[in-house]
Amino acid sequence: MSDPDHAWTEAESTVYRDLSRYAVPQRETQIALIVDRVARSAAIGDVLEICCGEGLLTAALLDRLPDTRVHAYDGSDSMLAATRQRVGDTDRLVTRQIDLAATDWRRFDTPLRAAVSSLAVHHLDGCGKRALFADLFCALAHGGVFVLADVIRPATDAGAAIAGDLWDDAVEQRSLELDGNRTGFDLFRRADWNHFRHAALDPMDQPSTVVEHLDWLREAGFTGVDLHWMTAGQIILSAVRP
Ligand SMILES: C[S@@+](CC[C@H](N)C(=O)[O-])C[C@H]1O[C@@H](n2cnc3c(N)ncnc32)[C@H](O)[C@@H]1O
Repeated sequence: MSDPDHAWTEAESTVYRDLSRYAVPQRETQIALIVDRVARSAAIGDVLEICCGEGLLTAALLDRLPDTRVHAYDGSDSMLAATRQRVGDTDRLVTRQIDLAATDWRRFDTPLRAAVSSLAVHHLDGCGKRALFADLFCALAHGGVFVLADVIRPATDAGAAIAGDLWDDAVEQRSLELDGNRTGFDLFRRADWNHFRHAALDPMDQPSTVVEHLDWLREAGFTGVDLHWMTAGQIILSAVRP
């Protein structure tokens, strides 16, 4: 179970909903890429989104895959409510409140076509990620795909500095593109979100290196482990259950 002293709170959900439109680099590209990778999966079955937040990715999956049901799970009441509101009344959406670190939610009646997650699995430590990858391997259908978008831990100080610079640049650019000014970027800086600049991470954030992700996925039995996108210390990769 997650450590209650270092757990995500509803206050963080509120701040995230306000800031993420600026703070998530190439957000629309990321969502399109994840949905496209799921659409290319040969398997049939439901799709799981782990830690769906306000439901942007869930809504895009439901739009693109009209025959698919999406299980959108998160720990935050307000995030789940936002997801239900965004998607509207449909039996193709199943929401559930979960603790990411718990394992009770990782079993399904029928094998999954895909499991996806964006910017959340880094709340698990290395052992937790390994266990999650192994559980998702078991939950997926043969040919099913796991698509992970997340923050990584650069392997070197130089890598962290580069990620920090790229993240600031990306947020400033989004702020200008979305609003024509730097207000969003100023909010991001005041909130001190660029953790690549921090000497120590918030204990809630436990990102792992790219190589660790790849190793743990292969160790779980996944094949076709592939990196599709990376910038500013954030990656999108996918892996297939053969
Ligand atoms: C950074 S947000 C990402 C939200 C969304 N996936 C996105 O990409 O915009 C992290 C999400 O993980 C959820 N979360 C964080 N820790 C969690 C935990 N231990 N159990 C369940 N959900 C958790 C939060 O409620 C939040 O919705």
